[in-house]
Amino acid sequence: MSTEFSTGTEPAGTELLALEGVGKSYGTVRALQDVSLTLRAGEISCVLGDNGAGKSTLIKIIAGLHRHDEGRYTVAGEEVRLDSPRQALDRGIATVYQDLAVVPLMPVWRNFFLGSERGTRRWGGLRLDADGMRATTREALAKMGIDLPDVDRPIGTLSGGQRQCVAIARAVHFGAKVLILDEPTAALGVKQSGVVLKYVTAARDAGLGVVLITHNPHHAYLVGDHFTLLKRGRMAGSHPRAEIGLEQLTTEMAGGSDLAELSHELARPSVPEASGPDRVDPDRVDPDPVDPDPREERPKP
Ligand SMILES: Nc1ncnc2c1ncn2[C@@H]1O[C@H](COP(=O)(O)OP(=O)(O)OP(=O)(O)O)[C@@H](O)[C@H]1O
Ligand SMILES: [Mg+2]
Repeated sequence: MSTEFSTGTEPAGTELLALEGVGKSYGTVRALQDVSLTLRAGEISCVLGDNGAGKSTLIKIIAGLHRHDEGRYTVAGEEVRLDSPRQALDRGIATVYQDLAVVPLMPVWRNFFLGSERGTRRWGGLRLDADGMRATTREALAKMGIDLPDVDRPIGTLSGGQRQCVAIARAVHFGAKVLILDEPTAALGVKQSGVVLKYVTAARDAGLGVVLITHNPHHAYLVGDHFTLLKRGRMAGSHPRAEIGLEQLTTEMAGGSDLAELSHELARPSVPEASGPDRVDPDRVDPDPVDPDPREERPKP
């Protein structure tokens, strides 16, 4: 009754999925238009963009949660219109959402097998193969190099980074060919982000194609083979790693000229000379320009 099967069956470089001129509207909101992207086995493709750029819409189309209404979506060369995440999963496309669908009080191994429990029929009922599932979870984590000695711990007691790692190992174990990660490092500190990115590369090394959504160009550049930039639903750039450096990626991501404009808007207004004691002295370095004099805040005795 288990749905486990082997992974990494596609040779590196095999096209796993492709979007061509894909678009999607929510009523009158054009969330995505004319987006193209190709994902190959053994490759990490990063999708970068600011809030509202259309990143989640893009992965929801790939993951079968929403249907595109323009363009072509092909999986292993065959055009598809996915109606549900189950259909995507059946084609080997696994998605790890940021708010991971876990049951916090259940042990790690139960979460690992959630929806794919192993068991044996006995006396007309089903008996879970707890020991087997525990052992397999341990093995699967160890295979990815994930150091988690106690799979009996409730998953809710793990750090956010550890939970992401378990989710990645789970997708690899259950035979995903494509792994989609929606901002896996967004809520994590530097160290934990590094750990998660390490397992993202482990998934790639296992032969999966990974779509990594992020708005952190530094994280993207650490692991990415290809970078797609989205801006207000449109593609604002698509570069293989060889064609773009971190600096250019950061500038494109920040929207170069937009940033210059913003810096201009945020500049302090110039204050006319001789305006009294509040006059802004350009040479004075204010350690915290936002906070007014804290002494004024003190309650009167
Ligand atoms: N279900 C929906 N109904 C209507 N509009 C939506 C819906 N989902 C997204 N949108 C709109 O589509 C656009 C793209 O949204 P999307 O969530 O894909 O952006 P995002 O890049 O994931 O942003 P964020 O970084 O904030 O997660 C936005 O203008 C958003 O308001
Ligand atoms: Mg989003």
